[in-house]
Amino acid sequence: MANLYIIANWKMNLTLAESVDLARAVISNVKIKEPVKGKVIVCPSFPNLWAVADIIKENENIALGAQNVSDRPSGAYTGEVSAAMLANVGCKYVIVGHSERRQYFAETNNVIHDKVEQCLANKLTPIICVGETKEEREKGSAENVVKEQVKQALAGITLKDSLLIIAYEPIWAISPGAPASSVEVEPMKSVIEKSLSEIFTPEQIRQCAIVYGGSVDANNVSEFVGPGRMNGVLVGKDSLSAEDFSDLVTKAIALYE
Ligand code: PGA
Repeated sequence: MANLYIIANWKMNLTLAESVDLARAVISNVKIKEPVKGKVIVCPSFPNLWAVADIIKENENIALGAQNVSDRPSGAYTGEVSAAMLANVGCKYVIVGHSERRQYFAETNNVIHDKVEQCLANKLTPIICVGETKEEREKGSAENVVKEQVKQALAGITLKDSLLIIAYEPIWAISPGAPASSVEVEPMKSVIEKSLSEIFTPEQIRQCAIVYGGSVDANNVSEFVGPGRMNGVLVGKDSLSAEDFSDLVTKAIALYE
């Protein structure tokens, strides 16, 4: 598996033409070479996946991800998109349980669990987002909230040869909030690792990566990634500019060279 994942969450932004242009720019700017095992994952909106897949094709360093998936396999669920459909258009990754989905679309830990199952059944790597609110951090319950989110999302799940990514995204740090600092992020990495060790075998844990998300940019990326730190970052706002995002990726890669 890669030691560095940089995930671009384009959220509900960009037209078809803009998505294609940005994907082209990312491909031409991002060069990842040994010894760095890095993966850039771009996550456009549903209607633009197919066109971006066609641009990425078999690129070794850049992969396609979706921002959401249905918790059901198929059927009369108007407006939903299944994991099989995403795999079929070339997705390899899916963001699951983003805080914006939990907050605005009432996604519960149970629904997120079923989405993870759908991803794994269709050979998609779920990027499971967890993170506490500002109030939960102030109350001192951040660690328990995250532990519970990880535990419920993965209850009864076994990893065969699939990968799994956990994205720690404290809700208060997502832009326009201010980024967390390594002082807040590093202890949460241990909390997540401990939760995973209660669910998976050591072998399966080696198939898991933990990334950080929340106001990451080229200036602060070194705070979160690098040998011994998180395995990557999930980037929203800064991933919408080819120049800023390429700068961020270049700086992150340099930390491993
Ligand atoms: P941000 O978004 O980088 O704009 O804070 C991160 C996310 O919500 O995934």
